[in-house]
Amino acid sequence: MSATLSLAVLVSGRGSNLQAIIDACRSGRLRAKILAVLSDRIEAEGLRRAEAAGIPTIALAPRGYPSRRAYDEALFARISSFAPELVVLAGFMRVLSAPVVEAWAGRMINIHPSLLPKYPGLQTHRRAIEAGDREHGASVHFVSAEVDAGPVIARVRVPILPGDDPETLAARLLPREHALLTATLALFAERRLEWRPAGIHLDGCILDRPLELGADDRWLPA
Ligand code: GAR
Repeated sequence: MSATLSLAVLVSGRGSNLQAIIDACRSGRLRAKILAVLSDRIEAEGLRRAEAAGIPTIALAPRGYPSRRAYDEALFARISSFAPELVVLAGFMRVLSAPVVEAWAGRMINIHPSLLPKYPGLQTHRRAIEAGDREHGASVHFVSAEVDAGPVIARVRVPILPGDDPETLAARLLPREHALLTATLALFAERRLEWRPAGIHLDGCILDRPLELGADDRWLPA
């Protein structure tokens, strides 16, 4: 059996996706170990969740760094000291500079609350409702230099119901985000997913469209 997948997780706030990873590791559903949790915000609840789980934490505020790039390099120097196989952006709300992203190409993923390529950026729930969409969702993608635009690995869908507001829709989506992120990480942990310049590979074959997680937390047939 292959070795446990080692992770560094970056958070900016609440940390419910981080908690889902912690819980999946604890239950044995995910053969992974979080080596460290890092945040740009000292007060992030996600840091408290990591501490409660006995995971090393680093809070590094951007203030005082002369440029975005200088901050990113300091942050990723800390990450590198743990030598994780994969960096997970789990509600990390800063845009990363291109040199850092390129150095971690294929080794850094992000979860985003929309069916990418729809609605990169902020306020995704409100934008989906205002557009009259009948469904919404979340995507896990490899991080590239453009925001929320890297190759999409997997998605999960939820319906938009009459009377939904951004809060009700976000509350419906969040547990599905947790399922999507942990199921995708399980594919990495099973050594089934790989990023190559030619495209994402699953079980050695190129993935020509994102995986879709079903309501029963199983992958839907392609
Ligand atoms: C999640 O909904 C995540 O998809 C989103 O922030 C939230 C963090 O929640 N990420 C983005 O919008 C990134 N562009 P959490 O801190 O409870 O995991």
